[in-house]
Amino acid sequence: MIVNIGELVGIVPEGVLRKQGAEMSETGILKDAWIRIEDGLIKDFGPMSECPETDSDVLDADGGMVMPAFCDSHTHVVYAGSREGEFLDKINGLSYEEIAARGGGILNSSDLLHRTSEDDLFSQSMERVREVMAAGTGAIEIKSGYGLNPEDEMKMLRVIRRIRQSVPAVVRATFLGAHAVGRGYTHDGYVDTIAGMMPQAAELADFVDVFCDEGFFTPEDTGRILKAGAAFGLPAKIHANELAESGGVEVGVRYGALSVDHLERSGPAQIEALKGTPTMPTMLPGSSFFLGIPYAPAKDYIHAGLGIALASDYNPGSSPSGDMRFVMALGCIRMRLTPVQAFNAVTLNSAYAMGVAHLAGSITPGKIANLTVTQPGWNLTRLAYHYRTPYIRTVLLRGLPIHA
Ligand code: NIG
Ligand code: FE
Repeated sequence: MIVNIGELVGIVPEGVLRKQGAEMSETGILKDAWIRIEDGLIKDFGPMSECPETDSDVLDADGGMVMPAFCDSHTHVVYAGSREGEFLDKINGLSYEEIAARGGGILNSSDLLHRTSEDDLFSQSMERVREVMAAGTGAIEIKSGYGLNPEDEMKMLRVIRRIRQSVPAVVRATFLGAHAVGRGYTHDGYVDTIAGMMPQAAELADFVDVFCDEGFFTPEDTGRILKAGAAFGLPAKIHANELAESGGVEVGVRYGALSVDHLERSGPAQIEALKGTPTMPTMLPGSSFFLGIPYAPAKDYIHAGLGIALASDYNPGSSPSGDMRFVMALGCIRMRLTPVQAFNAVTLNSAYAMGVAHLAGSITPGKIANLTVTQPGWNLTRLAYHYRTPYIRTVLLRGLPIHA
């Protein structure tokens, strides 16, 4: 049980799995509260004036805020080594596309991954997962996509499964074989190979993803791969409209994608396509920040009545950070979201975008007790405003403090 909570933030009624339009500006907040955790789940909560007696463990929050842990619905944290060399190329003026065209970028990561043993890949990736859990992430989606041949893609998916078995955070796996054309393949031959991998990939993955963008995969390729994934029960989450108006949103919507992600180059046409669909538009301000490209027009989506999720895109090429508090701050500072809108985007809506909104992303009895307890005096606005000041007192995952 946690008592003397200054603000219990993110209270959402059972059954509400996402927030859209005006709902994005609302979240339940109870001041001066307690919350009870049982068997790793949220049991109940209420005001301190009606605090039940208990003989179990009590944590005195001392006026700190308690909020649901962040949900990060889009990451590539399983990768080998780093791309620091390309960081220098980027500083010297090369664009993401130029670096990729020189055989750097995703192919560079795939060469590194090929040379790295499965155990080493696991330990390198676990360091990042521990880092983000300590920073308050309680649910994380992880993509393959640096294998780029069947063997190495399966190696990545096995590493994600091992992470899932090793950490208290909620983990979901996405098969992103179509991240770039692997070395030694023709474009069409590669699309065939990835589509043909679905029977094995579906054993380990929850979702299928395609980098549907200029210079990578077309909407036609994407349709083929999503269809092949659907035949093996894999819902889609796609990379769309990062580098160009790629047609990715439209093909994602056509296949009932759970999310379409990036959206830096999107506008009224994509908003229209998304209205009335189950697809969650997901924006990745960390990659806009790192690449110096436009931020996705989040406000326009919300004004049109849509919900949005925010995720970190933690990866070695376009967003080498998984700090969801910084993502939330960028949402406020650069996308002009209010702190409550940004909060909903990094919790419930991001949980929805990775298919776990029934388990995580809000203060709701029955959900997993993945909670951040802050130092005294914090609130959502201050979290985004003083965006570098340490604020975490403890992170509880499945009701237990994590030891980073
Ligand atoms: O989401 N855009 C495609 N994939 C990643 C970048 C991957 C990389 O450069 O390694 C992204 O930004
Ligand atoms: Fe990505």
